[in-house]
Amino acid sequence: MKKLLIVANWKMNKIKDEAKNYLEEFLPLVKDAKSDIVIAPSFALLDYMQAKLKGTGIELSSQNMFFAPTGAFTGEVSADMLKDFDVKYVILGHSERRQYFLETDSFINKKVISALSNGLKPIICVGETIVQKKADLSKEIVKEQLSIILEGVTEKDVENIVIAYEPIWAIGTGFAMNASEVNEMAEYIIKLVQTLLQTTKKVKVLYGGSVNEDNASEFFNAASISGALVGGASLDAKKFAKIILG
Ligand code: 13P
Repeated sequence: MKKLLIVANWKMNKIKDEAKNYLEEFLPLVKDAKSDIVIAPSFALLDYMQAKLKGTGIELSSQNMFFAPTGAFTGEVSADMLKDFDVKYVILGHSERRQYFLETDSFINKKVISALSNGLKPIICVGETIVQKKADLSKEIVKEQLSIILEGVTEKDVENIVIAYEPIWAIGTGFAMNASEVNEMAEYIIKLVQTLLQTTKKVKVLYGGSVNEDNASEFFNAASISGALVGGASLDAKKFAKIILG
């Protein structure tokens, strides 16, 4: 049995009180869970979440970071600052970062290199728009994204990176991609990463985009999908626990 990696991306949601209520409900529900569970709260909650997650086996992720180690970068957060809160993963290249904050593949590449050299595991988001999908360009787009984002990443890091395939048209829309199509893309990504990093090892590929408690098991049962990156449904403790417990 594969060990699933299930990541909650809380995006810009929850203040301390809400996180407290959530964890009071969530932690007892998942205490015997067999999957690896990761929560990515906002930066503002990292301190609080670090304290609350201690000893639970649930890991912390951030939703972003900057690549410079220190300096005059107002509003930014470095890898060292994240490690100060025992953060293990960092989501990089999310389509919302690309859309609203104009992040490019080469900018994301610098963050990936910085994360890896600081011992953080990047969860690298890729995926196509609806226009690109209709033009049958999904694989080409993902190839272009990963070729740039993984520049300078070596074979020894294949186990330290996670690819989250998140078709943009499926994010927050209620229209998840069909599991067999996602599985085909996951196989494609695994082979692509093997070629790019010159390795025979298999990278973990998660699916993200309208994953919920009703459809999650379809993705988890697919051979090449290693888990999920969950947005909206991860904000509700019961729903997220249901996704994890099956
Ligand atoms: P939804 O689960 O709300 O579609 O969001 C997916 C996502 O963007 C996770 O990073």
